[in-house]
Amino acid sequence: MSRRKTLVLATHNIHKQTEMNSILSDLGVNVIGLDQFPEIKDIAETGTTLIENALIKARTVHKITGLPSLADDTGLEVDVLDGAPGVYSARFAGENPTFEDNVNKMLTALSDIPDDKRTARFRTALAFVDSNSELCEEGVIEGKITEKPRGEDGFGYDPIFEPANETRTFAEMTNEDKNRISHRARALEKMQKTLKHYFEKGVSID
Ligand code: IMP
Repeated sequence: MSRRKTLVLATHNIHKQTEMNSILSDLGVNVIGLDQFPEIKDIAETGTTLIENALIKARTVHKITGLPSLADDTGLEVDVLDGAPGVYSARFAGENPTFEDNVNKMLTALSDIPDDKRTARFRTALAFVDSNSELCEEGVIEGKITEKPRGEDGFGYDPIFEPANETRTFAEMTNEDKNRISHRARALEKMQKTLKHYFEKGVSID
């Protein structure tokens, strides 16, 4: 495979790779994942914002591979918790918690909170890094935390997140329905447009 016009997605998560690949498909670049670079292990997310973490991951992968890189970082912001867990969403219930641990901790934290005060949003930050530029985009979906988990699909906080104007949680939706409105899809669509414009300006990507 030619290494020109290849974009590396800074993720080991195969679901994210598939989702990102399909949205970026009309950019005319080869999109590959970190499975092609086994020497790159988990990158420490030491930033205090989603954008910082996405940039840390994209810069690290670009530095090691020499290829343009795209990284994402996502957080769940719950209004009654002043925006927590936010950038710490993966570690909400401690070090290396399961998705279920995080969901249970959230339901306990909100046990006395009435429906109209359970508003929340998912936010995804995306960072693209190559030798010429660093580009960032964000995608957001508003919704609320349900009182009980509902649905079997998805991952993470999906069973307790009901998007605004929806009656289903993310875990009750098909992947296709979720990906039509999700935070990550919205960020990717914006990044797709930004990159298209960037590539059309004639900037060669490494
Ligand atoms: P990451 O930045 O994608 O690793 O996500 C951080 C945390 O948010 C992890 O606990 C994920 O499970 C959770 N998360 C990320 N995206 C989603 C989503 O689409 N649905 C539910 N939870 C998510």
